[in-house]
Amino acid sequence: MGSDVTALLEELTLAEKIRLVHGAADPDGTATGYVPGNDRLGIPPVTVVDGPLGVRAMGERATAFPASIALAASWDPELAREFGTAVGRETAAHDQDVLLGPGVNIIRTPAGGRNFEYYSEDPQLSARMGVGTIEGIQSAGVSATVKHYVANNQETNRYEVSADVSERALRELYLPAFRAAVEEGDVDAVMTAYNRVNGIHMSDHERLLSDVLKGEWDFDGLVVSDWWGTRSTVDAARAGLDLEMPGVELTEYLPELDADGFDDDPSPPNGTSSDFPPIPDVPAYFGEPLREAIESGEIDESILDEKVSRLLSMLESTGRQNVAEFETGSPSDDSTGELDTPAHRELARDIAIAGTVLLTNDGVLPLSESDSVAVIGPNADAAKLGGGGSSEVSPFTETAPLAGIESRAADASFERGVNPIAESSFFADSESADANGSASTGETSIDDAVSAAASADCAVVVAQDDATEFTDRDSIELPGRQNELIDAVAAAAERTVVVLRTSGPVELPWLDAVDAVLETWYPGQADGEALAAVLFGDADPGGRLPVTFGRSATDYPTADETAFPGTDDIAQYEEGVFVGYRYFDDRDIEPLFPFGHGQSYATFEYDDVTVSETDDGCDVTVDLRNVGTRAGKAVVQVYVGKSAAPVPTPERELAGFESVELGAGDSATVTISLAREDFAYYDEDSGWTVPDGSNTVHVGRSSRDIQTTVDVDTR
Ligand code: BGC
Repeated sequence: MGSDVTALLEELTLAEKIRLVHGAADPDGTATGYVPGNDRLGIPPVTVVDGPLGVRAMGERATAFPASIALAASWDPELAREFGTAVGRETAAHDQDVLLGPGVNIIRTPAGGRNFEYYSEDPQLSARMGVGTIEGIQSAGVSATVKHYVANNQETNRYEVSADVSERALRELYLPAFRAAVEEGDVDAVMTAYNRVNGIHMSDHERLLSDVLKGEWDFDGLVVSDWWGTRSTVDAARAGLDLEMPGVELTEYLPELDADGFDDDPSPPNGTSSDFPPIPDVPAYFGEPLREAIESGEIDESILDEKVSRLLSMLESTGRQNVAEFETGSPSDDSTGELDTPAHRELARDIAIAGTVLLTNDGVLPLSESDSVAVIGPNADAAKLGGGGSSEVSPFTETAPLAGIESRAADASFERGVNPIAESSFFADSESADANGSASTGETSIDDAVSAAASADCAVVVAQDDATEFTDRDSIELPGRQNELIDAVAAAAERTVVVLRTSGPVELPWLDAVDAVLETWYPGQADGEALAAVLFGDADPGGRLPVTFGRSATDYPTADETAFPGTDDIAQYEEGVFVGYRYFDDRDIEPLFPFGHGQSYATFEYDDVTVSETDDGCDVTVDLRNVGTRAGKAVVQVYVGKSAAPVPTPERELAGFESVELGAGDSATVTISLAREDFAYYDEDSGWTVPDGSNTVHVGRSSRDIQTTVDVDTR
């Protein structure tokens, strides 16, 4: 704690301190959360705004970047840092102090409603992308908030469900990205999850907040609740929650609501849609009730002081506002940020390209300049900006797949084929999507799409799912009649390319009938531009899967209702550490496309792979050569097998990776260093333990395409 913070704490009265541990309504109405500051002592207000796909300031615009899962598909932490810097500068340009992102929850179930807001089923990939993003955001002088701590892996029953999970799975899968955010990313704030973990709400979870986060990891930043996610006064205050958000009741937060609240009134308040979720009926626990608990002696005032000092220290540590200068009322702000610059537009496109995964290609891609293209798909004339919920961003500009292809193809036609897929939104009236749909209902027919496909050189079918915060997907099938449409087009077209814009894995029942499949996730405002660049070979599809594509939802460990969405308010994490590819490997289930998979237009050879032991672990060195005729990107992936462990361990676990871009004929040597700790498993009695003996290192192009396996002695 700086001396300025200590001095301020001494000056603040009890009532003034209480006002700094819960939010209030933002007088400007743009922030997602607001702490009023203190005029008397010159403490400025703190404004907090949603991410993580871009800045969501109410009623304002910002760059709509690709979804987090697309960023993760780039397997490029440096790109995450560039993204973080850009979104941090946009946060500053909106005059907001804190961004509510990144989200680093593990993708446990393929149906998770917010999977697009998270990175991966793998903790190592999540950690690397999270740290890059956080460092970027905070380099712009604003604070990042890593969320949702922890085990917020589903939306169904999210306010009550208890993730019943072993300590080992918490340590090995669900906590590492948060730990890296704190220990490596030096993140300023951590948001608690809505759910319970092993029976205790996360806002009340003393062991995970005080013992693990603030104790073991030495987190000295601010613990913020999720919105209306605080569930008690005394327990939460003692557990380590520092700031209750938004700190006001729903009617004050969204003044357009009538006094009865949203629950009783089916008409949505202005600026929100009928999809805006019902809010738990909770009072402001850290307002009057906290003051009473302190005055009655139930809670020691030093607990409150610690919370206030964390908020003040956070302000002091960011470049934007300097406690030492509060009294002059002039923040030490030397960066006003920037918004919607040409560089941000380019970055949005570059991330979309880098995150595009070429799942399969029978040689039809890239298309040639002279190809005529039939663009088909219910929503192909609109950019897929994101999913529904608090992460929705309104961009200044956007390019739809149709427009992108039209600007690049010799000739392009368009048919929806089937009615538009409705898109969930908390903030836009989803009726508008339906209205579009019904306007064209009479005109959309699979037959018309088939005719268009038959008379073009190539059919590009753009398909999508609909995912949103607050609900999980019903299934991982493409919604509506999109599968039927793809089947029909594939039967008629000379060549068929399917473009998926999905929040995560979907079933691909027509896979054998089509010639190429691209997964572009939710590509954001540059959707069409990025897609055209990849389709016509101006850019290499740079993505590799951050999640396993199974053949159906029953392939995953969450197939049983007790595991997901749970019964009697409990989701049993019985699979333990076997999530994602760890589960597919353990159960010997053949994935449709494995974790880490993705093709390039270039062809890479792994000439020589060596693993040499170092003082602290080993170095994996790969000589890589692009033997193809185009420039492209390779992602070297290093997995460890903790074969010497006395407990069941996954066959392979990602421990390191490196993305390399190489021109045709070029070669490079890549070295990835592993530490001894990379071989550790978590023993419930003795903590992190490196098993003594012979473990394995696997080097490959995906979790199932292993080029070399070497034994490594960790004795
Ligand atoms: C979400 C958070 C978000 C907050 C504020 C909650 O519903 O879970 O991720 O930051 O709302 O909008």
